[in-house]
Amino acid sequence: MSDLKKLEEDILKAVDAAEDEKALEDVRVAALGKKGSISELLKGLGKMSPEERKEMGPALNGLKTLVGDAITARKEALHDAAIEARLASETVDVTLPVRAAPLSEGRVHPISQVWDEVTAIFGDMGFTVEEGPDVETDYYNFEALNFPEGHPAREMHDTFYFHPKEDGSRLLLRTHTSPVQVRTMEKGKPPFRFIAPGRTFRCDSDQTHTPQFHQVEGLVVDETTHMGHLKWTLETFLASFFETDNVEIRFRPSFFPFTEPSMEVDVRCARLGNEIRIGEGEDWLEILGCGMIHPNVLKSAGIDPERYQGFAFGMGIDRIAMLKYGIPDLRAFFEADLRWLKHYGFQALDMPTLDGGLSS
Ligand code: DAH
Repeated sequence: MSDLKKLEEDILKAVDAAEDEKALEDVRVAALGKKGSISELLKGLGKMSPEERKEMGPALNGLKTLVGDAITARKEALHDAAIEARLASETVDVTLPVRAAPLSEGRVHPISQVWDEVTAIFGDMGFTVEEGPDVETDYYNFEALNFPEGHPAREMHDTFYFHPKEDGSRLLLRTHTSPVQVRTMEKGKPPFRFIAPGRTFRCDSDQTHTPQFHQVEGLVVDETTHMGHLKWTLETFLASFFETDNVEIRFRPSFFPFTEPSMEVDVRCARLGNEIRIGEGEDWLEILGCGMIHPNVLKSAGIDPERYQGFAFGMGIDRIAMLKYGIPDLRAFFEADLRWLKHYGFQALDMPTLDGGLSS
């Protein structure tokens, strides 16, 4: 009997000492498994005398139940402890300061913002948005736009050329967005009404020029499109873009090979130190080039200039971004300075819309 008591003590000690469910299972198998210590003793009951069996039977069964219960209890305790440990390690400290989410950290570059604003305004006027490649052929960048070979106006463009190909032709980085005019028109049929914002390149670098910059081209072609439409379109765009009702523009005669007549457009402005206010004051600021599309350009695109006519304009996106948002130095646009971007950039979800406000 004292052997049995010793066995009970040993098993219960082992149950208590089991640190996890795996160790506890080992203890169970050693005691109650097929070849476990208690099971072996139970097997011996058959060989006992009836008196012995009467005494040992209940004692062994009692031990079996006791050990079984102890194991179940320990199992539950281990399970609860595991949950407690997990809860403790996964605690959320709600008193920690909130970390800024990536969305509120990021900024939309002012050029992207202005690009989107211009697209929203012309989109509302029924213009589609077209694209052309940054790497252009001489044909689309110059020839189709009525700059013949050797024309002096080509010299004004400070073109970046690639190495000549075997046939002598050279690809180039487009010097303006105007090549999208012919590229788009030759793909479709008039009437046309589109803008083409994009990257442009010229071998020029100083305070007011960067080798890469941005332009937006605009074009309308129909049977009766005239300069009055051009003036209205530009005034309406500029009023909307500068968010003022007082836009006043004037046309100055100019020259571009692809328009006839050609004009440059100035807007009325006031200069107050570094600040420029559009729509008031006595000064004029050059803002874009435009004109009536030259018949040769329409012919390049396979359009009959006897039947169709239209206007085109080209504007520097960087320039109107500087004017609208008071950005003094053009080069800062391309310097990727995060402090500058934090100051002049826009929140990612503040997308410009005409009803929601362009820049607010
Ligand atoms: N492509 C001209 C430039 O880069 C800008 C321009 C002027 C575009 C007149 C036009 C236009 O469409 O009609 O200097």
